[in-house]
Amino acid sequence: MSTFSEETRDQRLEGSSHPADKAEEVFERDWLAVFYKVALSISRELDLANLLWLIMDEVRSALRADRCTVFLLDEERRELWSLAAHGEREIRFPADRGIAGYVLRTGRMLNIPDAYHDPHFYPEIDQKTGYRTRSILTAPLRNRVGEVIGVFQVLNKEGGPFTRVDELLLDAISGLAATQIENAQLYAEQKRFLEGTIEALANTIDARDPLTAGHSKRVALLCVDMAQRLELSEDERETLRIAALLHDFGKIGVRDDILLSKSDRLEPEELIVMRDHPARTRKILEPIRFPKRLRDVPIVASLHHERLDGSGYPAGLKGEEIPFLARILAVADVFDAMTSRRTYREPMHILQVLQQIEAGKGTLYDPRCVEALAGISALRFLEIHTNGQPDFLIPEDHRAALGAVSIGEFARGIGRQGENGVGRLFEHYYRVALQGELADE
Ligand SMILES: [Fe+2]
Ligand SMILES: [Fe+2]
Repeated sequence: MSTFSEETRDQRLEGSSHPADKAEEVFERDWLAVFYKVALSISRELDLANLLWLIMDEVRSALRADRCTVFLLDEERRELWSLAAHGEREIRFPADRGIAGYVLRTGRMLNIPDAYHDPHFYPEIDQKTGYRTRSILTAPLRNRVGEVIGVFQVLNKEGGPFTRVDELLLDAISGLAATQIENAQLYAEQKRFLEGTIEALANTIDARDPLTAGHSKRVALLCVDMAQRLELSEDERETLRIAALLHDFGKIGVRDDILLSKSDRLEPEELIVMRDHPARTRKILEPIRFPKRLRDVPIVASLHHERLDGSGYPAGLKGEEIPFLARILAVADVFDAMTSRRTYREPMHILQVLQQIEAGKGTLYDPRCVEALAGISALRFLEIHTNGQPDFLIPEDHRAALGAVSIGEFARGIGRQGENGVGRLFEHYYRVALQGELADE
C-alpha cells in the first residue's frame, strides 16, 4: 500500500527528475489533455445523476480502469452511497468501512495494488456483487473549504497497478469533481424549492374552483407533450411549463360570485373583471425574480387569451406579436377548458373540441400549435384528462394500442375502423373518464 504524499505530488509537478520516469513524461503530456477533456466535460453538467455518471465514465477511461465509483457521504445516516456504479445498482455501506471509509476518515489517497492483501479492504461488497477487485485507487473528494464530501474509487487498472501519474490525475480531478458535485446539489436544491413554490401557487388557484381543479396542471402536461413535437429548447420548454402552471393565477383576485357563476353569460362589468385575469397574472408574477432562463414566464403566462387575428384579450395582439410559447399555451388552455366540465356546462366531447379548434386554425390559433395538440396520443390524453387517477386503469395491451394513435388521427376517423378497434377502445375509456368526472361532482 502506498499513500499519495505531498512529496510525490511535488516530484510530479517539478517534472521528471527520475530517469525511470522517462516513460511517464509521455503520460504527463497526455495527462494535461486528459485532465482538460474531463474538466471541460464535467463543468457543463449540472444534473447530479448525469454528472456522477459522466465523472465515473470519464475517469474510468482516463485511467484505463475497469470501474469507477463516486461515493458520497450521507451525513445523517453516516453512510457512503453511490448513485450508480459501473455494472451495479446503488451501493450503501457504513461510512467507516473499508478502504473508502479509511480514505474518508483520513483524507489521504490510497493506492493499493492488491486489495485482498490489504487490511482495510472490505470484501463484502465483492461477495454481494460477485465482482473480483484487484487494484484500487481511492481519493478523497474535497470541497472548496477542504471538507471531505465523499470518495472516488477506481478499480482494476488495465495491465497492472495504478501508477503515480494516475494518482496525480485522480487528485486533480477529485477537486474539480467535488466542486461540481456541490454545485449540482445546490442547483437541485434551488430547483426543488422553485418547483415546490410554483406547485403551491398552482394549487392555490385550482383550489378556488373545485370544478376546474387540476386545470393548470393539465394545461402544463398538455404543453409539455406539445413541446416535444415543436422542437423547443430546454429553457423554452421549462418556461412554457411554468407559465402553464401559473397562467390563471390572476383569477385569485376575481370574486367568487363571478368566478363560480353558473351562467355562461356574465354581466358586462363582470366580464371586464374576468377578462382582467391575464393582466393580473402578469402583475403578480412580474416581481418574482425568475432565473434568467425563465424570465419570460410572466409575459407568456399573461398572453394565453390572445388570438392570432387580434380578437383575444387583454392586449388584442396579432400573429407574430404573440410570443410563440403563448400561442402554444393558448391552444392547450382552450382545449382543456372545453374538454373539462365548467360550472355552467357539461364537458364537450373531445371530437367536437378538436373540430372547433381545427376551425380556428390560422385565424385564432397558430396552425403549428394545433398540429402539436392533434399529435397527442389517445393514451396520453386519457392520462392527462383523468389527472392520473390510480383507479383509472388501462391494461397493458390497451395502453399499447391507445398509445399508437393520436387524438388528431382519431378525430379524422383513422383507427375507428382499424382491426384492433382502437377507436372503440378510446370511446370506451373516454366514457369511463367522463363518468368519473360526473361521479366526482
Ligand atoms: Fe385564463
Ligand atoms: Fe386557463
